Amino acid sequence: MRLVDAMNYSLQAGGKRLRPMLVLAACESVGGSIEQALPVAAAFEMIHTYSLIHDDLPAMDDDDLRRGQPTCHKAFDEATAILAGDAMATYAFQAILSGISDPAKAVAAALELAIAAGLDGMVGGQMADLEGEGRQPSPEELRYIHEHKTGALITGAVVCGGIVGGADQKTLGQLRGYGKSIGLAFQVIDDILDETATAAELGKSPGKDSASDKMTYPRLYGLDGARKYADELIAAARRELDALDNADSLRTIAEYFVARTH
Ligand code: IPE
Ligand code: IPE
Ligand code: MG
Ligand code: MG
Ligand code: MG
Repeated sequence: MRLVDAMNYSLQAGGKRLRPMLVLAACESVGGSIEQALPVAAAFEMIHTYSLIHDDLPAMDDDDLRRGQPTCHKAFDEATAILAGDAMATYAFQAILSGISDPAKAVAAALELAIAAGLDGMVGGQMADLEGEGRQPSPEELRYIHEHKTGALITGAVVCGGIVGGADQKTLGQLRGYGKSIGLAFQVIDDILDETATAAELGKSPGKDSASDKMTYPRLYGLDGARKYADELIAAARRELDALDNADSLRTIAEYFVARTH
């Protein structure tokens, strides 16, 4: 079926799978089992991949290359790409609500994902990102955009891993603090790589942000200033993990978030 083909095309194109890894690592950090967390991990990857398909559409960032392949609307067509994104956005909730056996955990994870994905998270941030094109960034506006368009799903992934792993409220707060810092750092690095990396390294077209006159951290602070800011955020994220017994995977992922080259 064409719709399923388009969904699989984008899901299997070769993403880094960072959000599912965060779900699993956060679940592990609070002593939960990885199997319990798999439906939630898949759900976050579906919402993320849908956000990329729509982000690449001509009406948004108008990109031809994603995950080293032609973008979904280039490989299929715009209507199919829109619908593949829509179908993934809803299938994510189907995966959580049918795949998590403890009803209280399923509802809590679904609510967390809904908030992270929608108006108060990724979608709201994407709108602010588009409205910010062509304007001089203020630090507050830029932080709002990045925390929402990218940070919210990353934070949500960490918190949901904690929820299915059975974390208490205090631990969920620590995981949320870690997620917020690494989520913002992740988009700061994305902005840097857009200026410094090649298409072959990135699997997506570089130089898009300046071409669209986007608000970015390198534009606000310069490349060195932006990198320093990302490093500070990762140091803050690591401090949030001090109270957790089993957070080595989360520490490693935090380091990777700033060391990555694609
Ligand atoms: C790219 O995210 C889009 C942003 C939110 C910055 P990733 O760099 O995690 O993309 P994939 O999943 O590896 O393709
Ligand atoms: C991505 O921001 C945010 C979402 C897809 C939600 P960008 O527009 O900077 O992401 P890339 O650089 O196209 O991956
Ligand atoms: Mg964009
Ligand atoms: Mg984009
Ligand atoms: Mg980018």
